[in-house]
Amino acid sequence: MAYVLWEFTILGFDPTSFMFSGALIAFSWLLVNNRMMDTEALGRDQLFYATHDPVILMDAAGRFAGANLAARDLFGDEIPEHGGSLRQLNKIGPMLDCLAATGELNPAESISVGDRVYDPRALPIASPIQRRNNLLGWTVSLVDITERERSAEALREALSRAEAANRAKSEFLAVVSHELRTPMTSLKGSLDLMFNGVAGDVSDRMKELLGIARRNSVRLQKLIDDILDLQKLDLNTLNFELQDVEPTEFLREVMRDCEMHAAQAKVRLSVVSDDAEGRMHVDPYRLKQVVGNVLSNAVKFSPEGGNIECSLGATGDALRMSIRDSGPGIPENAEDKVFGRFNQVDSSSTRASGGSGLGMHIAKILIERMGGAISYQSRLGVGSVFHIDIPLAGGVPRQSSPPCDSVPGDGEGVPAFGEVRG
Ligand SMILES: Nc1ncnc2c1ncn2[C@@H]1O[C@H](COP(=O)(O)OP(=O)(O)OP(=O)(O)O)[C@@H](O)[C@H]1O
Ligand SMILES: [Mg+2]
Repeated sequence: MAYVLWEFTILGFDPTSFMFSGALIAFSWLLVNNRMMDTEALGRDQLFYATHDPVILMDAAGRFAGANLAARDLFGDEIPEHGGSLRQLNKIGPMLDCLAATGELNPAESISVGDRVYDPRALPIASPIQRRNNLLGWTVSLVDITERERSAEALREALSRAEAANRAKSEFLAVVSHELRTPMTSLKGSLDLMFNGVAGDVSDRMKELLGIARRNSVRLQKLIDDILDLQKLDLNTLNFELQDVEPTEFLREVMRDCEMHAAQAKVRLSVVSDDAEGRMHVDPYRLKQVVGNVLSNAVKFSPEGGNIECSLGATGDALRMSIRDSGPGIPENAEDKVFGRFNQVDSSSTRASGGSGLGMHIAKILIERMGGAISYQSRLGVGSVFHIDIPLAGGVPRQSSPPCDSVPGDGEGVPAFGEVRG
């Protein structure tokens, strides 16, 4: 037209063909774009209809607006006509009613329909045009969690069976250890009497053999006592009789009990400071067990002629009892082995020190149940210091520097290495 009326040209040519080509390109672009929009819409539709999880569409007034195949399979004839009430839907009717009224799924817990378990989830459908009051309805999907629930149930059953078996084992061990205790006591008593010549003269060779039997009966008795305590701790049947205890006298008493053991091992025991203030609030019998275990290790792992130094001090609001030895020390990151059950740092069968690896484990549980803690510092080839933090009977002790926070060979008061808490 422009060409005919005003002789308009493009590069001297009639523009009709250019205009026609331009229109064709624009039209093709629209066609392709439209096709892509179709693909997206079709895909979305297919996903909605083909998904295995039932999905129901509901308008803002709570009326039925659509359902996918899985929902139709699940609810069958209960699915109403478009715009019909959803109230009669098995199990989820009241829930949908509540959703339409309050905007929330209530109760938001799983529901069972037939032999399947579903987790209902609701998503609001908002109008893209309106900015306010734009709620058109809801998409309610029922996520099938049957397999997950079955696995969880199987795990719960397995756990409760394992717990029952563990409890039965603990009870069995507790009974057996208890029954072993009485004959063990008379066995050890008789060996003691024979060893001391009460039942008549014993030759040197017999004394040597009786000595071996005595030592092993002591070991066996300790093992039985440890297993019995451990089972009681596991079953939570160990009672603590907490009372106020004077620390200095307590430490001296425990050391007296350990003197013979130390003398036999040719190790010297000494107290380097015991002027701590305050009274401990503990079960003295159980604390003796804790300190006794630490002391017996210090003796056991010290070389002949070694020194063990005990001290009392304070840390935070607890009283700290420290036992330092000049033994071989403990390698780094071995706390699991030191405090683990039946664990030893050196578990080779050739190790000379013996023991079952229960002492520190029991000590840790006992002191923690009494509200205290156990920790250690150590350096290989230098020695170890074990700290037992004991709760006080009200009030904070006056002495503030922790005792024995160095090991032999280190500068006084300089922490040798990081503390390892039990
Ligand atoms: N003072 C110490 N010096 C060096 N190693 C130690 C010391 N105390 C504990 N250990 C290490 O920690 C491990 C665990 O100690 P624990 O008292 O639990 O077992 P045990 O003494 O071997 O046996 P049990 O005490 O049951 O007779 C020990 O075997 C040892 O390897
Ligand atoms: Mg021990």
